[in-house]
Amino acid sequence: MKKNIIAGNWKMNNSLDDGLKLVSEIATMIKEDPVNEVEIIIVPPFIHLTVLDKLLQDYDQICLGAQNCNEHDSGAYTGEVSTAMLKSSGVDYVIIGHSERRAYFNESDELLATKVNQALSNGLTPIFCCGEPLSVRESNGQEDFVFTQLTNGLFHLSEESFGKVVIAYEPIWAIGTGVTASAAQAQEMHKAIRNHLASKYGQKAAKNCRILYGGSCKPSNAKELFALDDVDGGLIGGASLNPADFVDIIRSF
Ligand code: 13P
Repeated sequence: MKKNIIAGNWKMNNSLDDGLKLVSEIATMIKEDPVNEVEIIIVPPFIHLTVLDKLLQDYDQICLGAQNCNEHDSGAYTGEVSTAMLKSSGVDYVIIGHSERRAYFNESDELLATKVNQALSNGLTPIFCCGEPLSVRESNGQEDFVFTQLTNGLFHLSEESFGKVVIAYEPIWAIGTGVTASAAQAQEMHKAIRNHLASKYGQKAAKNCRILYGGSCKPSNAKELFALDDVDGGLIGGASLNPADFVDIIRSF
C-alpha cells in the first residue's frame, strides 16, 4: 500500500547549528510517539546533508531529500552537485522543478526531464513539482498548464520508471503567501492530475502515484487537506522550519 509523505523543504534557511537543532527536536518527538503511516523527509540545503545523515542514523523513520540536482554525471560544472554525490551522502529523494527554480534559475521542462532521468538512474526518487501562477488560475487555465508540465517533464518515462516518481502540486499563488488552496481547489486539481497520469500510464499506476500538496500548508489546515481523496501528503515550506508545527502536520493524517 502506498504510504503518505510529509517532506519539509527548508529552502535557503537555517545555519548548520540551527538545522541540527531542528532535526534533533523533530526526531526526538517522532521517536517518542512514532507515526508509522507517514514517510518523513527532511530537505535541507546541500551543505547540511552529510551531517544530518549521521544524526538520522538512529532514526530510521526520517530520511533525507535534496532541493535540486545537476543533470550531468560529473565534470566541469562549478558549483553543482550530482545525483551520485547525493546518493553517496545518504539522500533518497530530490525535489525537481520547484517553481522557485523554474522562475529564478530558468529551469525549462526539457532540463527538468533530464534531471528526472539522472535522479532515477542513481537511485533517487524525484519529487516532481508542478503548479500554476495566479494569472493562469484567474483565467481558469490551471489544468492545461499543469498537464503540460507533467507531460513534458515525466511522460517520456517507462511505466516502471514512472512508478518511482512522487508528484507535488504547488500552486505558485499559495507558496509562502499564507493563502492555501481551498479543499475543493486542491481535490479538483489532484484528481485532474491523477486522471492525466492515468491517460498515459493507466488507472493502476495513477492510483499508486503519490501526489503531495504544497503551498501555505500549516497545522491549522493540514487535516482538511490530507483527508482529501487524492492528496497523499504535503511538501511543506515555512512550517517545516518550526519543529512543533512540522510534527503537528506529520500527525495530521
Ligand atoms: P510554503 O509552505 O512556505 O508555502 O512553501 C511551500 C513550498 O514551496 C514547499 O516546497
